[in-house]
Amino acid sequence: MKTRIFRPTPYTICRLAKLLTRGELVAVPTETVYGLAADALNPIACGKIFEAKGRPSNDPLIIHVSRKTQIQPLAIWNASAEKLAQAFWPGALTMILPKTPAVPDIVTSGLASVAIRMPRHPVFRRLLREVNRPLAAPSANPFGYISPTTSQHVKDHLDGRIATILDGGPCQVGVESTIIDLRQPRKPVILRPGGISKSQIESSLGIRVIQRSPGRAPKGTIEAPGQLDRHYSPKTPLLLYRSLPQNLPHDEAIVFYKPSSGIDGDKTNKFSLTSDGLGSTAAHNLFALLQKLDRGQWKRIHMELPPVQDPWHPALLDRMRRASTR
Ligand code: TXA
Ligand code: MG
Repeated sequence: MKTRIFRPTPYTICRLAKLLTRGELVAVPTETVYGLAADALNPIACGKIFEAKGRPSNDPLIIHVSRKTQIQPLAIWNASAEKLAQAFWPGALTMILPKTPAVPDIVTSGLASVAIRMPRHPVFRRLLREVNRPLAAPSANPFGYISPTTSQHVKDHLDGRIATILDGGPCQVGVESTIIDLRQPRKPVILRPGGISKSQIESSLGIRVIQRSPGRAPKGTIEAPGQLDRHYSPKTPLLLYRSLPQNLPHDEAIVFYKPSSGIDGDKTNKFSLTSDGLGSTAAHNLFALLQKLDRGQWKRIHMELPPVQDPWHPALLDRMRRASTR
């Protein structure tokens, strides 16, 4: 199978929408990471997602919608969902809600709930409107590898496994959406930290929100990728530090959180995650930098952790830990 990247012209959007309607896969840009999309109501099409990614069937998919009226046939809405939708949609927030029988079991891995997100990326939104049906889409990486934040990342790792990638430029947010479980509207639980912070959610809902720490799901269930021990991993061993050690070998890459002198040159092993020390910049750069370093011939990657007081700290720490070698 030949894998092609398409620019988002009105003509290609129309063509790719037809492919999706016919049950084919299309890799799509979102503001968080690239997704691998299929018609959410077509179980055969959704099965192709699991096949292309090598994803286990017990890891459910997120359904993407372009307007709220598309949700009613899929999920049981509630007041907390309404508040969060008003505050953060379109955007990097995924809500877990009780599902209706209309959602195929393959999408939810047989769970009684469904994950829904209204994305903000203008190109993906145009495609969603053109298709005019909800699209299931996990991140467009092979299972277990770092999520893609450019169309080239998708091609690098799914080449020959999918036919079509829609290019929408580099993803702005750079890490996956926050997943919030709203099955009990007055007891919301964050299953995966992401683009929207706990405190943003708490101030919108006016109640306390629990943040489930990774690895805490009941045995045998996967509530969110947070429950999988290793995920988003580069092939090169990654080690994390509060403060980086001195005198590391020259064939090992060193990643500072903030810029410091003599780094990011072609002849050095020193890199910086951010140009400005901001968590949002770190999120934007993290996966792209890991992919770049993973293509280099580094024996190991040593990475400095973000400051704990940054609102992006939980999401960054979560992704860095999961990418790291323990
Ligand atoms: O930003 C994002 O969320 C990206 C873009 C493409 O939208 N998508 C993404 O999908 O990160 P994925 O498949 O890599 O992660 C989605 C996770 C699944 O691993 C699963 O654990 C969780 O969402 N999930 C899906 N349905 C669920 C459900 N009914 N209950 C609990 N967790 C669910
Ligand atoms: Mg993923």
